[in-house]
Amino acid sequence: MILKSLELNSFRNILHAKVGFEDGVNVLYGNNAQGKTNIIEAIRFFSECSSFRGANDRELIMSGKNRAVITAVFEKDGREQTVEVRFDAEKRREIYLNGAKTAPKEYIGSFNTVIFYPEQLSLIKNGPENRRKFADIAICQLRPAYYSLRSRFERTLHQRNALLKSGDMRTLDIWDERFAKLSFLITKTRKNFVTRLEEFAKPYVNDISGGKEELSLSYVPSYDAKDENGLYLELVNNRERDAEYGNTNVGAHKDDFETYLNGDSVKKFGSQGQQRSCVMSFKLAEAEITGDTRGEYPLILLDDVFSELDTSRREFITGKIMGKQVIITSCDPISSMENANKIYVENGGVTQG
Ligand SMILES: Nc1ncnc2c1ncn2[C@@H]1O[C@H](COP(=O)(O)OP(=O)(O)OP(=O)(O)O)[C@@H](O)[C@H]1O
Ligand SMILES: [Mg+2]
Repeated sequence: MILKSLELNSFRNILHAKVGFEDGVNVLYGNNAQGKTNIIEAIRFFSECSSFRGANDRELIMSGKNRAVITAVFEKDGREQTVEVRFDAEKRREIYLNGAKTAPKEYIGSFNTVIFYPEQLSLIKNGPENRRKFADIAICQLRPAYYSLRSRFERTLHQRNALLKSGDMRTLDIWDERFAKLSFLITKTRKNFVTRLEEFAKPYVNDISGGKEELSLSYVPSYDAKDENGLYLELVNNRERDAEYGNTNVGAHKDDFETYLNGDSVKKFGSQGQQRSCVMSFKLAEAEITGDTRGEYPLILLDDVFSELDTSRREFITGKIMGKQVIITSCDPISSMENANKIYVENGGVTQG
């Protein structure tokens, strides 16, 4: 997939900007707080249908305005396409793919990117919700139906917890059955993803460690059950405890995955450098898996990671993404990348070249 151009109107601190992108490396450079990450956030929005920074629509609309529009022209499946998101302070946002209004569950997977930003460098040490989020967003790009599955799961979890809190257990049986079914499917899908991630990330870790380190990943479900019926029984057994806390203690929303190097837990024993190498390999692997599954390599977004990585890791990642479309943000124009398309960002304005 290739992003050709992006147009932003009243998005964050950008009143109006039109940016053209090239096939290879594109560098968005400029001082702090000028709008570089805002541009990345807009681009990534087309993949996730939400802000990767967790912002709500109101925060994305320029202060003092009521509406924002972001539009991208991209090439995929051999044709030029457009996607537009219209944000409104009063209404639900709308997504238009090639001019036709579409729902996120139908649209998701249409615009493939892989994003890498500094907070993710501690993905392995951070809480499990970060790893679930990483896996879930990646899977949505690969298997769009997973998006609806996740929404149904979230709603069911919410409903079960509401019933537990209310003390009215009469319909709990139906919800437990539904919850077990959806939860089991999510666990299974994530487990497959983690297996694939391991397969694709292993050679990168091996490469960057000079053959010294072998990566392995293990999915850690929050329950012992081997099938959905077993999970249903676990839920029934846990009802009393769950009712006491007003939430559900087992299920896909509590799952995790663990990273090992030569059999040792990276979370417990890994150095900062080892953690970073693993996460960097996850990102390269995610891009490759997306390319493999969707038939086209995704657009790579590197927000500020270059300044965070040491020279050897920076060179490693640069070597691996050579020839792909990449958008990098940086405070300086990265003089070593002479052939890159340089875009200067200042106070919400964009100057090409
Ligand atoms: N809704 C909004 N309306 C107006 N301005 C906003 C809005 N949201 C964020 N901003 C402004 O955008 C700027 C931050 O932009 P951004 O995060 O893209 O910076 P950056 O260029 O990536 O900087 P850094 O190099 O520090 O990462 C801040 O000045 C902030 O006040
Ligand atoms: Mg930034």
